[in-house]
Amino acid sequence: MVKKIYLRTFGCQMNEYDSDKMTDVLYAAEGYVMTDKPEDADLILFNTCSVREKAQEKVFHDLGRVRHLKDANPGLLIGVGGCVASQEGEAIIRRAPFVDVVFGPQTLHRLPQLLAARRSSGKPQVDISFPEIEKFDHLPAPRNTGPSAFVSIMEGCSKYCSFCVVPYTRGEEVSRPLADVLTEIAGLAATGIREVTLLGQNVNAYRDEASGTTQVCDFALLLEYVADIPGIGRIRYTTSHPREFTPRLIEVHARIEKLAEHVHLPVQSGSDRVLAAMKRGYTSLEYKSIVRRLREARPGISVTTDIIVGFPGETAADFEATLRLMDDVGFDASYSFLYSPRPGTPAAALTDDTPHPEKLERLYRLQEKQDSMELVHSQRLIGTIQTVLVEAPSAKDPRELAGRTSSNRTVNFPGDPASIGTFEKVRIQEVRKHTLRGEPAATGTPA
Ligand code: SAH
Ligand code: F3S
Repeated sequence: MVKKIYLRTFGCQMNEYDSDKMTDVLYAAEGYVMTDKPEDADLILFNTCSVREKAQEKVFHDLGRVRHLKDANPGLLIGVGGCVASQEGEAIIRRAPFVDVVFGPQTLHRLPQLLAARRSSGKPQVDISFPEIEKFDHLPAPRNTGPSAFVSIMEGCSKYCSFCVVPYTRGEEVSRPLADVLTEIAGLAATGIREVTLLGQNVNAYRDEASGTTQVCDFALLLEYVADIPGIGRIRYTTSHPREFTPRLIEVHARIEKLAEHVHLPVQSGSDRVLAAMKRGYTSLEYKSIVRRLREARPGISVTTDIIVGFPGETAADFEATLRLMDDVGFDASYSFLYSPRPGTPAAALTDDTPHPEKLERLYRLQEKQDSMELVHSQRLIGTIQTVLVEAPSAKDPRELAGRTSSNRTVNFPGDPASIGTFEKVRIQEVRKHTLRGEPAATGTPA
């Protein structure tokens, strides 16, 4: 009988990526396939996130809900991976003794061995170590879905922003060797992948010192190499950090046409006082200067960001500075979060005297502002012709296709499914809630 996995993923794109790798590893090792019904599963995995909210509690709640399935299926195994696993380790087993394996973001490739050890020893297995970058040497080739793929180029984070758990849960920054990254992308291109998203908590911290050339390979140079790979028509990356957004990196946006017209550059706050308390390592002026130079290099580039509202000690004036920064920059989109104290981070020890309702009020004002700015940005696109990578039939209307513009906007338009996997010109005609609608530019109504 084919064994089935039920897998739930929480959190960021790195976790989505890691979840894909877990299923690849388990398919290659034991032929596991996916199921969306926990009651049909032989293995239930939670890939957890601890970056915000009461994530720990949520995991135990979710675990509690699947526990009874072991009564009906004694062979069922339950595993916890991701950042909560990394932070809690053995404590997960102590609190939920029915859990069979606990593994971290850097040990997911060992899942088959952990499961085997669990079966043979009868004891729960915990492995949340950080064995550098070995996991990539143990991952099978990805199974191809659609024309776009994620490629991890570095793992972890060494920035230690005062509010963030990532450096503790995913470890310090480690880059994959250049040759490995390029080989993987060339392989993907050969299977029909047209767009790659280079993935990392801080992609622009990428460094390969032993790249075989006389030069240290930094992120800007990596982009040049990736752009030379035949078949790859578009390159994205996420997430970059303002601190290592070098002049060289800005400059490649002018030269490499394949680079998408979009950067996600988290700013977190517009107040220099708050930025310093967050240990972000830049001022709002420095941030604005990066965006200005980036737009000079690549006119029309879309800039999106992350903002934290209600950091400990954030005053009304600090918050106003954030709103001003939003006006100054004109973000195409922003993801805003209420500050959430994370156990073990320096900011969790700071006094926080802003009342919760006031924080909510700030978040609401910020999101209102962003929504109206976004509408203006979208409406500017009406009548323009965009190059869309056609990805799949539209989820809402199977007679239409869905794809993304260079600036990462989803567009629906009528077309031939045979064009999936190709770049098409689409004239934008309508702005919908989170998407755009258009017509193929060649046959569409003339401007
Ligand atoms: N380098 C990563 C950061 C991961 S965390 C990236 O940019 O994707 C993603 C976002 O979550 C951060 O940019 C920040 O805005 C938010 N975040 C992180 N820790 C937080 C906390 N303790 N409270 C609220 N938001 C937080
Ligand atoms: Fe977190 Fe700051 Fe790194 S937000 S992921 S510590 S850059």
